[in-house]
Amino acid sequence: MIRKFRRHKDFEVTVQVTSDTFIRPPREAQRHWILNRVLYEVVDDLQHLDAAARRYVPGADHAALPDRTQAVLAEHEIMEDWQIPVMEAMAEVVAASHGDVLEVGFGRGVASDLIQAQGVRSHTIVECNDAIVEHYHVWKQQYPESDLRLIHGLWQDTVDQFGQYDGIFFHTYPLNQDEFLEHVVQSPTFAAHFFAVAAAHLRPGGVFTYLTNEADSFSRGHQRLLFDHFSSFTLQKVDNLPIAADSRDDLWADSMVVVGARK
Ligand SMILES: C[S@@+](CC[C@H](N)C(=O)[O-])C[C@H]1O[C@@H](n2cnc3c(N)ncnc32)[C@H](O)[C@@H]1O
Repeated sequence: MIRKFRRHKDFEVTVQVTSDTFIRPPREAQRHWILNRVLYEVVDDLQHLDAAARRYVPGADHAALPDRTQAVLAEHEIMEDWQIPVMEAMAEVVAASHGDVLEVGFGRGVASDLIQAQGVRSHTIVECNDAIVEHYHVWKQQYPESDLRLIHGLWQDTVDQFGQYDGIFFHTYPLNQDEFLEHVVQSPTFAAHFFAVAAAHLRPGGVFTYLTNEADSFSRGHQRLLFDHFSSFTLQKVDNLPIAADSRDDLWADSMVVVGARK
């Protein structure tokens, strides 16, 4: 049995390996190196998360989220304004090639405007909410020259209508309590349940962009999930977001990381 222990003034961490065959590289020193690194990373993570948690706002409690697939929502309920700098960063990533773009989740159309401002060959939008789709039809009249296409429905039900794209922009939210528990609470990042679909519908060299709710960094588990589907990725930390103390969002911090994952 190996037991490793770190004491910090605010917490203690113990790793106790109870099996002789667990983490067994060729040399004993390598085994200790791996376990020491795990401890170092947990301690480092806890210290950084302590600092990040001090900047959190309470946000909304989505533990009892009513189904909002077809809810008629006010603009701030769809997306609060403090997230607009994140939309700007994601729009730049997705439209860098100025090619064919798929955007999942129209919402208020803020990101759609930003993608249009970048200039893209075609712009396909997937949206499930009928009231939001009505807004899309009004919105698109501003862009009579653009190649805009709508896929009306849940992305889960309409994947067979997807084509191949140079950029995919993913910004949906959990539609009900089950999605919140499965894709927010029990996942390193909400977008993970879309990774396989994004990879299947990107051209080689195409880029998939989304935001993460890891406010200050990027976890190892998250990176491993990305490498299951993509060859490389870039990260951009968007800082100093003007999140209000009374935000009702389910993202709680004043910084967010924008990912650009390349096929
Ligand atoms: C946060 S809003 C998007 C905001 C948008 N990026 C903007 O800039 O205004 C999320 C949108 O995704 C839509 N949505 C959520 N889940 C979806 C799903 N599974 N399939 C299609 N649309 C979905 C919601 O109806 C909502 O319009």
